[in-house]
Formats: sequence, C-alpha cells, structure tokens
Amino acid sequence: MKPVILYYSQTGFTKQYAEWMAEELSCPCFAFEKGKSVDFSQFDAVIFGSWCHAGRLKKYKWFQDMLPRWKGKRKAVFAVGASPAGTIQAEQFLKTLEIPGEEITAFYLPGGLRYERMGTASRIMMKMFSAMVNRKKEKTPEEEQMAQMVSRSYDVSDRKRIKPVLEYIRGN
Ligand SMILES: Cc1cc2nc3c(=O)[nH]c(=O)nc-3n(C[C@H](O)[C@H](O)[C@H](O)COP(=O)(O)O)c2cc1C
Repeated sequence: MKPVILYYSQTGFTKQYAEWMAEELSCPCFAFEKGKSVDFSQFDAVIFGSWCHAGRLKKYKWFQDMLPRWKGKRKAVFAVGASPAGTIQAEQFLKTLEIPGEEITAFYLPGGLRYERMGTASRIMMKMFSAMVNRKKEKTPEEEQMAQMVSRSYDVSDRKRIKPVLEYIRGN
C-alpha cells in the first residue's frame, strides 16, 4: 500500500499521531490545509485524522465530499478526543463516523486537552462545559471523573495506540 495521511489539528495531538503513523509507514503526511492540493492519484490508501468537537469530527464533511475521488482506495479515519480509549463515549463516537455505502474503518485515539494552545472559542466552550459538569450536585462516578479531567490540561496520547491503524493500512 502507498498511503497518504491528512490531518486537522488544533492543539497538536492529532498532528502528533499523524506524524507517528507517517514515520511507521514511511509515507507523506499533510496538514489539512495543504492536503487540498495533493495529487491523490499516486496513493492507494488515505488516512484522515481529526479531533472530536462536541460529538462531531472536525472537517469530516470535507472528508465525505472527497470520497468520490478516492474510489478504490483503502480509507481509514482516526478520531482524536479527550475521552479515554475503550469508553462507551468513544465507541458511540465511532458510530457517528459510519457513512452508508462507504467502506471506511474508523479508530479512536485518546489525545488530551491543551488549554494553552486552544483558540478563544474552544477555550470558552470548554469553560462552559466544565462549569456545567461542576454545577451538577450529585454526580455519577463518570461525571466526577469528567469534572476532574476537564479542569486542567493533560496528555494521554500514546504511540502504541496507532498499531491497529497501521495493521489495517498494511492489510495485516
Ligand atoms: C470545544 C471543544 C469540544 C470538544 N469536544 C469533544 C468531544 O465531544 N469528545 C471528545 O472526546 N473530546 C472533545 N474535545 C477534546 C479534543 O477533541 C481533544 O482535546 C483533542 O485531543 C484535540 O486534538 P488536537 O490537539 O489535534 O486539536 C473537545 C475540545 C474542545 C476544545
């Protein structure tokens, strides 16, 4: 397989995962903005990575719009979010990436939060979310954990997590 990686990242977690994959697969890796001018005919697999934003994957509409041009290519999507891997939230998120009639394999990779690199809008949204979680008086253990997590920056990204994506692209 000759893959190409495209990623969209605000605070660096998705970029880091994309670069780890590019190293392992010895393939090019482009930021979304530059990827618009890529000649896709020379690649037979496309990996698209982006970050979770309020239950949606950023730039997924762009990815969907590109699909007719990528007929016959192997396609993988990786979604990077603040939730830990293997949670119900992560599983539910992957379901939202299914596109009827398209064969796309999606993976969830845990990133973290980096308040210091967020844009103003993101920071405000996260502050509102944090206040909402904290306001709730009787929290479930999951909500308690969430309140703790969103109160500060953290990094749970892990290079080992890319293994299933590599295996899928290599056809193992
Ligand atoms: C406004 C906003 C909304 C977010 N919504 C979600 C979400 O719905 N689910 C999730 O797991 N993470 C969510 N996150 C966390 C980001 O997906 C996470 O920080 C990710 O690692 C960012 O990737 P990046 O560093 O490539 O930008 C949100 C972050 C922000 C700023």
